[in-house]
Amino acid sequence: MNKLESQKIAIIGADGQLGSDLVPALKNRDVVPLFWPAFDIVKTDEAAAALQRIRPDIVINTAAFHRVDECEDRADMAFAVNAFAVRDLARTCRALGAVLVHFSTDFVFDGEKGAPYLEEDRPGPLSVYAASKLSGEHFVRTHTDRAFVVRTCGLFGRAGCLEKGRNFVETMLFLQASGRKEIRVVGDQVVTPTPTAELAARVAALIGTEAYGLYHMTAEGSCSWFEFARAIFELSGGDPSIVVSVDAAAYGAKARRPAYSVLENGRMRKAGLAPFSPWRESLAAYLKEKEAEKSPKPQ
Ligand SMILES: NC(=O)c1ccc[n+]([C@@H]2O[C@H](COP(=O)([O-])OP(=O)(O)OC[C@H]3O[C@@H](n4cnc5c(N)ncnc54)[C@H](OP(=O)(O)O)[C@@H]3O)[C@@H](O)[C@H]2O)c1
Repeated sequence: MNKLESQKIAIIGADGQLGSDLVPALKNRDVVPLFWPAFDIVKTDEAAAALQRIRPDIVINTAAFHRVDECEDRADMAFAVNAFAVRDLARTCRALGAVLVHFSTDFVFDGEKGAPYLEEDRPGPLSVYAASKLSGEHFVRTHTDRAFVVRTCGLFGRAGCLEKGRNFVETMLFLQASGRKEIRVVGDQVVTPTPTAELAARVAALIGTEAYGLYHMTAEGSCSWFEFARAIFELSGGDPSIVVSVDAAAYGAKARRPAYSVLENGRMRKAGLAPFSPWRESLAAYLKEKEAEKSPKPQ
């Protein structure tokens, strides 16, 4: 058994969208999946005691309070989960000698740059959610040296996003199936839809290194949410003409979001990890896999 295979890896939020793809991506490792509410990062002492019993070499934290609009009214909750619990987790990891892997968001940027953001670019959070996630990043960096902080964007995975009910792809497919005549989608926010399966594979590779620090990890390319929705309809045989572009101001979401939050995977590339696929290719593969599962299996 090599060193990596013998390492014990605790995954917090193992049934979440990303967590569900991390478990199979780490299938040859000694994985301990942890589920809310039995394992709650906000219950700091209990979480620390549980990790002391497990004695992991690596802790992967996918937990977050990330209903972005709701965070505006529930700042205490947003900071409790996304910042203070992460600080305490980082302290626990340092005390145990464990590496921490933590996830953050493209929303830490204000969107004014108009070109892909590098890890070195200065953040400018526009919302409570973004500020709480940025605080979480700082707490990780100030409490432990042995950590990977991975900023990502627009996740879609087979488990769906538990926190939000569904991911964007599933929401669009649901609206399409419900026979809606028109679907309004924001056209002036540019992002990169990113498949959790590809992200999980790169995280699995990254934790085999000791190149700790901050990483941007998203699929290749970019699009507006409107373009993403159109692509979902095109690739799933729906009618893309029912998707209508609206600007964010007219859409009227409570939290402000960056107009442009595309991330440049600079450090990931330098670390020698395989590049992501273009987002549209991954979306096509995701939809194809879903379709194949629906077809009857040969006897
Ligand atoms: N989704 C996106 O588009 C997106 C974009 C950029 C960054 N990110 C970041 O990527 C990470 C993973 O996102 P995701 O889409 O996989 O989220 P997700 O589907 O909501 O999964 C999060 C998991 O953490 C669990 N959890 C929630 N609160 C917890 C707590 N207090 N203690 C322990 N576990 C808790 C959830 O359990 P329950 O569901 O049972 O509560 C769930 O299993 C998050 O850090 C998020 O901020 C996500």
